Amino acid sequence: MDTKHIILFYLFNCFSPVPVMGAFSPLDPSSFSRPEQAVIKHVTLSLNVDFENKVLNGSATLDVDVLQDIGDVVLDSSELTIESIELDGAQLTYKLDDPVPNYGSKLTIQLPKRASSGDKLKIKIKYTTSPSATALQWLQPAQTSGKKHPYLFSQCQPIHARSILPCQDTPFVKFTYDAEVTAPEEFTVLMSALRGESRSTKTTFNQPMPLPSYLLAIAVGVLEHRTLGPRSKVWSEKEEIERSAWEFAEAEKYLQAAERLCGAYEWKQYDLLVLPPSFPYGGMENPCLTFVTPTLLAGDRSQADVLIHEIMHSWTGNLVTNRNFEHFWLNEGFTVFLERKVKASLIEDPIEAKKSRDFHSILGLEELSEAVVSQLGVDNPLTRLVPDLHDVHPDDAFSTVPYEKGSLFLRYLEDLIGGPEVFDDFLRSYLKNFSRKSLDTDEFKAYLFNYFQDNEKLKSVDWETWLYKSGMPPVIPDYDTSMTKPITALVAKINQRNATLISYQDVQTFTPHQIMIFLQELIKHPPLPLDILHTLGAEYKIDSSKNTEILYRWLRLCLRSKDQSILGEVFDFVNHIGRMRYVRPLYRDLYDWEDVRNQAIENFLKNEQYMMHVCAHTVKKDLHLID
Ligand code: BES
Ligand code: ZN
Repeated sequence: MDTKHIILFYLFNCFSPVPVMGAFSPLDPSSFSRPEQAVIKHVTLSLNVDFENKVLNGSATLDVDVLQDIGDVVLDSSELTIESIELDGAQLTYKLDDPVPNYGSKLTIQLPKRASSGDKLKIKIKYTTSPSATALQWLQPAQTSGKKHPYLFSQCQPIHARSILPCQDTPFVKFTYDAEVTAPEEFTVLMSALRGESRSTKTTFNQPMPLPSYLLAIAVGVLEHRTLGPRSKVWSEKEEIERSAWEFAEAEKYLQAAERLCGAYEWKQYDLLVLPPSFPYGGMENPCLTFVTPTLLAGDRSQADVLIHEIMHSWTGNLVTNRNFEHFWLNEGFTVFLERKVKASLIEDPIEAKKSRDFHSILGLEELSEAVVSQLGVDNPLTRLVPDLHDVHPDDAFSTVPYEKGSLFLRYLEDLIGGPEVFDDFLRSYLKNFSRKSLDTDEFKAYLFNYFQDNEKLKSVDWETWLYKSGMPPVIPDYDTSMTKPITALVAKINQRNATLISYQDVQTFTPHQIMIFLQELIKHPPLPLDILHTLGAEYKIDSSKNTEILYRWLRLCLRSKDQSILGEVFDFVNHIGRMRYVRPLYRDLYDWEDVRNQAIENFLKNEQYMMHVCAHTVKKDLHLID
């Protein structure tokens, strides 16, 4: 902002009748914006991808509907350099507050005259992002499979969209978007939208469905694609394309199963992008284009759960959205719940289907108890289903709690109310009612009560404990344990500590998921002696597994036993793979082993520069390098 604009702004503010507002939105503790006053309905992006300077530059034009009498519009931004802001061609004054660490800067745009409810504003902001934008990872060629070209990808959830564009970065607000992106000719540009024309350096996109800012996504790389089905393609670098096409070949089958439960898929296209290994999540449900980690390429389709999970977000999360990240369980708990239902629905025999659903729920419960009891502590307020995020960044609150406590709560409600026959209809009704909207937990509760008005059972639910008490859930469903019985028996055998009893026959019939639960269970037990550990690893062919879900648990088991010989492999793993679900527990285990703590910290500091912001930030916390 130049001097003239600054003076004008302060002059205006001196006489402004608007009271000074608190820093954060009353509707969202993680956003500065004020969507109750004015709301973004559509965004038109025009961006240039500058690999040399690691920036995006161009403009965002915001179509804003005014809802109250206002003199300014408040937006979120993070590390953006703003060149100008215009309304109908006239320059506006604005104020960019000092940044609040990890939340960015409040951007207040002064309107030339007060606006009132019903007014429509078109605000054009010219700006450049920062090379350290937290939503963007600019990869050097060495970090890609092809090793020749750079690569760019984004991860906006939960609150990083503000580092890509000035916006109301709260899931309370949903907007449609158009984009025009320029990048060097050899690159493919993809976004969370329907892809329009791609001519030489320019690609256009259109997203006709309203979405929250955290679902905005972009990826730019030298990519190939293969067709998976009538509405699906998979994209990746050429080195992974054949493996990717094989691993995700069943996408259409899952989409159809999902539609049988939830209703028509409304986003038209369902593509997948397999990212480089530093992508920090297993999957991210960016509309029309799910992003996935290459660690899903296990070669046996055993990680289809992640694909089904991201598909289910097309309904829970993307159509029906949490109002802010305190109500994140409405996104993730519902999605896990639906994911397990859909997976089971593909098994014809109803008894086997129930077994499978319960088996996956037991694995989830194991992970929940590890997080709540061993890692966070039963009194930790972040173990509440609905946490208080005032002063807590949603990235720091992230855990398996909203996923597993949330889906377990829904399973409890389903069992209580009368099983899938009645609950599936409720789910469809809920999805229809809140489609294209955002809601909070109270609205969910009210809708449930209204739907099941005559259901006496609902009165017995202890809402206060389920929603607001820390610790494990108050009721654990009576899961079918037939698929976990052989695992329990094997764990008992291992605990006899007799290496001669261990042979491949023990696990010959185990599915990859049974091996996962087996290892997950052993991680909870006292450390194994090294001879037992090594015999187990070799005999069960676990130590050479290509499945990262298995390998990651194996490495943790070795760290628990303070196995020096595994350290090289652990460091290779965390330096190469950025998926936080693996990297964070491994670093935490390394930290807990005092003799190697310094080595772990040194390794992290050396490799931090290659990690995406969110992964580096959270590992820094795990290693107690920051508070
Ligand atoms: N939406 C999440 C990923 C996410 C959550 C990103 C919060 C940023 C903030 C995604 O759908 C997800 O849950 N991914 C899981 C996979 C799943 C099968 C549980 C993951 O990444 O492990
Ligand atoms: Zn999810």
